[in-house]
Amino acid sequence: MSSKTGKKVVVLGTGGTIAGLAATADDNVGYKAGQVGIGQLVGSLPGLAGHPVQLVAEQVAQIDSKDMSFGLWQLLAQRCTHWLALADVAGVVITHGTDTMEETAFFLHAELGRLGHVSKPIVLTGAMRPASSMAPDGPQNLLDALSVVTHPDASGVMVVFAGSVYGAVEVQKVHPYRLDAFDGGDAGPLGFVEEGKVRQVRDWDSRRTRPGSASGQGTRPRRPAPALPPNSVWPRVEIVMNYAGVGSFVVDGLLAHGEAAGEPVRGIVVAATGNGTLHRDLEVALLRAQAKGVKVVRATRCSRGRVLSQAGDAIPDSHGLSPVKARIALMLDLMEPS
Ligand code: SIN
Repeated sequence: MSSKTGKKVVVLGTGGTIAGLAATADDNVGYKAGQVGIGQLVGSLPGLAGHPVQLVAEQVAQIDSKDMSFGLWQLLAQRCTHWLALADVAGVVITHGTDTMEETAFFLHAELGRLGHVSKPIVLTGAMRPASSMAPDGPQNLLDALSVVTHPDASGVMVVFAGSVYGAVEVQKVHPYRLDAFDGGDAGPLGFVEEGKVRQVRDWDSRRTRPGSASGQGTRPRRPAPALPPNSVWPRVEIVMNYAGVGSFVVDGLLAHGEAAGEPVRGIVVAATGNGTLHRDLEVALLRAQAKGVKVVRATRCSRGRVLSQAGDAIPDSHGLSPVKARIALMLDLMEPS
């Protein structure tokens, strides 16, 4: 019997395809995300009778995750912190749209890690087919998430999808349609869920002692972390991409627009080509921005691997984080009190 027997698992609903509805059961793309309540999703799961944990459902939002906001991230972090502080709560599952799931997972990993609140597990899951589909994947993904969150070695923020378990730092959506839509990059999955049983393929124990960090390097918080400021004053950090023919406009325009709008751009992540390479015109604009005090970070736009930095690089690299995750890390770094 697991040490989690008799405890509660809290399922936070935020919407997404897992809660989506289409007009007909054979429509897996023309649906509206975020329609079915989390109570109904949890209540209609098969095989819960006799489950060793008690499920508590809470609707935190009901959105299509393309519309994810900083306010909702902050609310989710607060709800996770609230529930995980209770002794009788074993962990939290979050149902979420797949489109920005990796960003929310990384934000929670970095922010709750910063606060030192990641010893219990938070597992995000979702679906590629709506709840109205003739063969929805959501119920199985949710059951698999419950298997992972109640596993004795589970800790920190993970994503469970199509039978695979991924860490928040590595996970990435890689397909817009297939059920097996996520990938763990070079690191691969942490494990698999097979008929309700978790098979670990990487060391999960180390996750217990490794609070998340914005840089993804697993360092401990540098000091007792204060709460984040209201999201209305989070620093503006944008992403630009290197591509054939790119000029300096994208950077110069961003900076000028930020100034004019009274919301200066404080950071830029550049999704660079290959091993962090930049078109000379874009590089000049980024270095000009850097000289003005804007923090600039280079990630690679390749879906695997990382920028291998070299001594004397003028623009620091993202320590292996993808552009969207490097942006979150940079925003959190800019909010660290100096
Ligand atoms: C969403 O991200 O909310 C819609 C797409 C999905 O969940 O697959």
